[in-house]
Amino acid sequence: MDRIRIVGGNKLNGTIPISGAKNAALPLMIAGLLSEQTLILDNVPRLADVAQLQRILGNHGVDITSVGKRPGDHQYQGQTLHISATDIIDTTAPYELVSRMRASFWVIAPLLARMHEAKVSLPGGCAIGTRPVDLLIMALEKLGADIAIDGGYVIAKAPGGLKGADIEFPKVTVSGTHVALMAATLAKGTTVITNAACEPEISDVADCLNKMGARISGAGTTRIVVEGVAKLHGARHTVLPDRIETGTYAMAVAMTGGDVQLSGARPELLQSALDVLTKAGADITVNNDGIRVARNGAGIGPVTVSTAPFPGFPTDLQAQLMALMACASGASQITETIFENRFMHVQELARFGARIRLDGETATIDGIARLRGAPVMATDLRASVSLVIAGLAAEGETMVNRVYHLDRGFERLEEKLSACGASIQRISD
Ligand code: EPZ
Repeated sequence: MDRIRIVGGNKLNGTIPISGAKNAALPLMIAGLLSEQTLILDNVPRLADVAQLQRILGNHGVDITSVGKRPGDHQYQGQTLHISATDIIDTTAPYELVSRMRASFWVIAPLLARMHEAKVSLPGGCAIGTRPVDLLIMALEKLGADIAIDGGYVIAKAPGGLKGADIEFPKVTVSGTHVALMAATLAKGTTVITNAACEPEISDVADCLNKMGARISGAGTTRIVVEGVAKLHGARHTVLPDRIETGTYAMAVAMTGGDVQLSGARPELLQSALDVLTKAGADITVNNDGIRVARNGAGIGPVTVSTAPFPGFPTDLQAQLMALMACASGASQITETIFENRFMHVQELARFGARIRLDGETATIDGIARLRGAPVMATDLRASVSLVIAGLAAEGETMVNRVYHLDRGFERLEEKLSACGASIQRISD
């Protein structure tokens, strides 16, 4: 399995192009199942999760073609995918495929909405907690589906088609909102989703569905209304920039020092994280090409942060912030409120010398002057990248082992960082 070798201590200077958002690209690709016409998606990141979802959709009979480079395309442009679900030949999503990526479970919604049946394996994904699907099932049952769980599979049927309903989520769930939204587009009548997730990726999917002929209003707020339509048609949509990738590189610059332009980034997608970084001492400037992050001279100040659903501080940046706070001048507190077990990076950060104490869902980090490089192990996607940014700032050599998770979510990570002066290389065994 590949490893990443980093020699820390270099400041980052230059430009990092921000890729399309993984967590929007995946549900957008899944939304392609809702129409027999072609959905064209631009700015899709080249990631292992995208490739895996292509295999899953292929198993349902979906044709996906990736368009090559065109004159005028710049070096880092994401790929364009043509997704054609003309005939869905199989409504089963098998364990072998779904167990590797949690979001693939969401195919249950378009399959049920369009084909009135689906058999989907219970999901896998990053080890960051129990991550149940009860609320997704609740939403589909409200829409009239008959659901049974048998042999590790969720078997869903809606012989006469789905029917609009009121769906109230007892807690904010991104997956639940995606599933309810997609399923409701083809349901008969009106669906009202309350306590909906407001994440920008939900709005991006809703925008795309509306281009396909859906009638959705209120996406991006806690109350989404969907008027069901009989059919959706083809459309073209550009995936929004990845706010977690943006925040990750911003934290890397805050940690190493330097001056980096995050090209194509949209500040409104991660304002809470930018506010935290400013408080910690980074200079953040918004310009026409995105966000510029700099830290020259000043040290890193400690912060107190709790993760929260959007527009709060994202759980997907919690590990990276913890790496940054490991070098702050004082004690920080980070509370994780979304996932009950998302602290797998704590023991790995300790290998760099970080001083972190865990008490329930709160981590207290006593900053030290300098981390020292170490061999570390990646445990989930965002934890993995927190080890990379710790390695960039640490003294000496860091070897990040088992980088499989990084490839799931960060496009050309080593390339983007080395272009800004980092000493980072992949070692393939
Ligand atoms: C999405 O996961 C993201 N994944 C996650 O990013 C992200 O961390 C998370 O949202 C929160 O922002 C994708 O978009 C592919 P949830 P999701 O449903 O949708 C509980 C990454 O690194 N819950 O909002 O699975 C759940 O256990 C990934 O890119 C139930 O209890 O998250 C959690 O505590 C990791 N029952 C909370 O809700 C359910 O049926 C929020 O989960 C569903 C969820």
